Amino acid sequence: MTAARPKRDLLSIVDLGKDLLPVIKRAARLKADRRRGLMRPTLRHKNAAMIFEKPSTRTRTSFEVGLNDLGAHALYMSPKDMQLGRGETIADTARVLSRFVDVIVYRAFRHQDEAELARWASIPVINALDDREHPCQVVSDLFTLSEKWKGKYVGHRLAWVGDGNNVLHSLLLGSAMVGLDFSCATPDGYHPDPTIVSEARTLAQKSGAHLDLFTEPAAAVKGADAVYTDVWVSMGEEAEQTAREKAFAGYQVNATLLAQARPGALVMHDLPAHRGLEITDDVIDGPQSIVWDQAENRLHAQKAILEKLLA
Ligand code: CP
Ligand code: NVA
Repeated sequence: MTAARPKRDLLSIVDLGKDLLPVIKRAARLKADRRRGLMRPTLRHKNAAMIFEKPSTRTRTSFEVGLNDLGAHALYMSPKDMQLGRGETIADTARVLSRFVDVIVYRAFRHQDEAELARWASIPVINALDDREHPCQVVSDLFTLSEKWKGKYVGHRLAWVGDGNNVLHSLLLGSAMVGLDFSCATPDGYHPDPTIVSEARTLAQKSGAHLDLFTEPAAAVKGADAVYTDVWVSMGEEAEQTAREKAFAGYQVNATLLAQARPGALVMHDLPAHRGLEITDDVIDGPQSIVWDQAENRLHAQKAILEKLLA
């Protein structure tokens, strides 16, 4: 009798470890195959529970369509329709769902709930965004950059302008993992979590990536080959809207800021965008924008992630 393999979660992009680049390569293959109408049901008869505590357009759709492409079934579950919403514990929910399905995709308000679900589930748990990270988004983003840069991260620089949030955290770690130079500009009071920055610095030392943190947007975008931004008010932070819009007023990605990056620098946003706040219409709709490719690539990346964790 062979011992069962331990289950594998994706709570942080770092959990992919040395599989990050192979997953990106597989996403490229899956994308090319899908374009040719070729879809192999590599996860036939598998089932995924998708618990979403917050709204979603891209993550939900890409997981549902991706699971369907792979021959698997997705169950979308809102906590308000589950006993979880009436006080059943996360641990009990995890143990019960583990008896029915093969993977849990979880969008949570709190990272500690994500970790608690993973702790009690005997099947893989995939972080579909929490207040600490958004790993699936960043697998798609790195895949998108690899398409634009012909697989070459080293020697390129990605700049972030805006909030020190979940997406920035995963980008800091993911860029450091693949050797992509990274700079960010965040205002005082909204810097990224120092524990993530320190983890990214350790990874960057190994990959040779340079990591530079600023408060000035112009300093961060100087020499950048791509400029990335995200909302100033993440889901769950709505009560802070007024204070945040004031703090981030100088952090808009507009034509003037973009002109200070490398000529032709790519423009990125994980979406949904608040046009006129963190990004202007001319920039998000302009020729340098790759936001729609980022969004589409969620589908191919999601499939590669599912295959890796469920293989
Ligand atoms: N970028 C992203 O995760 O979008 P959704 O909130 O629509 O899933
Ligand atoms: N930082 C944003 C990302 C949305 C996909 C949020 O957490 O709301």
